[in-house]
Amino acid sequence: MALNIVIMAAGKGTRMKSATPKVLHKLAGRSLLAHVLKSCEPLHAAARIVITGHGAELVEAAVAADIGTAAQAAGGIGFVRQMPQLGTGHAIQQAVPALVGEGTTLILNGDVPLIETATAKALIDACAGHALVLLTVDLFDPSGYGRILRDPDDDGVLAIVEHKDATPEQRLIHEGYSGMMAAPTAALKRWVGQLSNNNAQGEYYLTDIVAMAVAEGLPVLGIKASSETEVLGVNDPVQLAQLERAFQAAQAEDLMHAGMRLADPARFDLRGTLTHGQDVEIDVNCVFEGEVELGDGVRIGANCVIRNAKIAAGARIHEFSHIDGEKPGGASVGAGALIGPFARLRPGAQLGADVHIGNFVEVKNSTLAKGAKANHLAYLGDATVGERVNYGAGAITANYDGANKHRTTIGDDVHVGSNCVLVAPVTLGKGATIGGGSTITKDVNPGDLAVARGKQVALTGWIRPAKKR
Ligand code: UD1
Ligand code: CA
Repeated sequence: MALNIVIMAAGKGTRMKSATPKVLHKLAGRSLLAHVLKSCEPLHAAARIVITGHGAELVEAAVAADIGTAAQAAGGIGFVRQMPQLGTGHAIQQAVPALVGEGTTLILNGDVPLIETATAKALIDACAGHALVLLTVDLFDPSGYGRILRDPDDDGVLAIVEHKDATPEQRLIHEGYSGMMAAPTAALKRWVGQLSNNNAQGEYYLTDIVAMAVAEGLPVLGIKASSETEVLGVNDPVQLAQLERAFQAAQAEDLMHAGMRLADPARFDLRGTLTHGQDVEIDVNCVFEGEVELGDGVRIGANCVIRNAKIAAGARIHEFSHIDGEKPGGASVGAGALIGPFARLRPGAQLGADVHIGNFVEVKNSTLAKGAKANHLAYLGDATVGERVNYGAGAITANYDGANKHRTTIGDDVHVGSNCVLVAPVTLGKGATIGGGSTITKDVNPGDLAVARGKQVALTGWIRPAKKR
């Protein structure tokens, strides 16, 4: 039986007070709409249809960029434009020509990001292509929500009445409609064709199909959401921040259950995925983005930002360090390495075991072999650094000639003195020593001492100029 998934995302989101379409606002680093698409990915729908309207071009482009155009074609994500937006029923009317088969159509909201796959699956299973199944939620404050009207005798669902159309008695009902349902596709097509906009808001309400199904004698079921969080929508920045915190708290709890030690789960943010070994400790105010891997015994100090990086067992990232691999695996730190405080690792930083990177050291597109050290105020860009190299304070690679980038190769056991400029392309042979303050423009042979700076002169008895009287 073919499954269609329709995601409504045409609404304006006025209360966000933003130029960005509401469904593109981010929760844990991913757009609200991307969260919804991700939770319905495992459902293997024959068609996933996103209804766009406000900011349609932006929304469609963002989905394409998120999942890749090829994946979009393969995964059957299609877009239907709804212009103007005359209500949720009108939105589904626009999607009718895109619905495939006679099975089930699941309807989700682009601004309800935390819907769980299992809940969506429960709706689909209960529908089984012939019942109308509503996801409902018991709310402490149901204002604004459509209310579920039930038969006082057998508790069966009779209808949904929108808040603005509800009588004072109906407004006392705490069971609200979440905005999500699963419907038999053929019946859904028929019902939405019969909607009218004769109501308080002058809109075509999708929720009016409930009474139609009841009138036709079709089974109508209400399934209660497992948590309020999974049905909460985002309408304004306050709700967005609340859902972000709820999501972060849940992620932090999962990680702690898996053994990770967080100094304070309320001061931890994960915008992506974090895989970890045993005995990993994370101090307060750290942000993890993209794909981050932490090996056994890794410790991360307070206030670090780590994005798309692999940190091997026993490595220590001290306070205020910034690691950004840009793409998954784009930066790596070897076992037992010591990084920071105040270190900056950029894309292509690949550090071996026991490497030391100290304060105000920047590493970009460079590999450092086992035991290499750059402890203070230095820059390594486009460099290949051998084992046990000691790279002095203030040393830099001049890797860019204004047009092209060039490589610096530093052999094992080289010592680079303080305040050196290594003008690339240049190679320092194994065991070479570079005198402090040198500007190195030519290759240095293995074992040599290279000094390239003005010679010190001494003028004995020199008298400082004095002010004329
Ligand atoms: C809707 C439900 C209400 C439910 C509530 C839950 C209807 C008539 N009412 O009300 O019973 O309790 O959600 O949040 O369905 N949208 C479009 N095109 C439109 C209008 C809306 O795509 O023309 C999209 C919006 O972008 C949003 C979703 O549909 O993702 C819900 O729209 P919204 O205006 O928030 O519906 P409510 O009035 O809150
Ligand atoms: Ca709403």
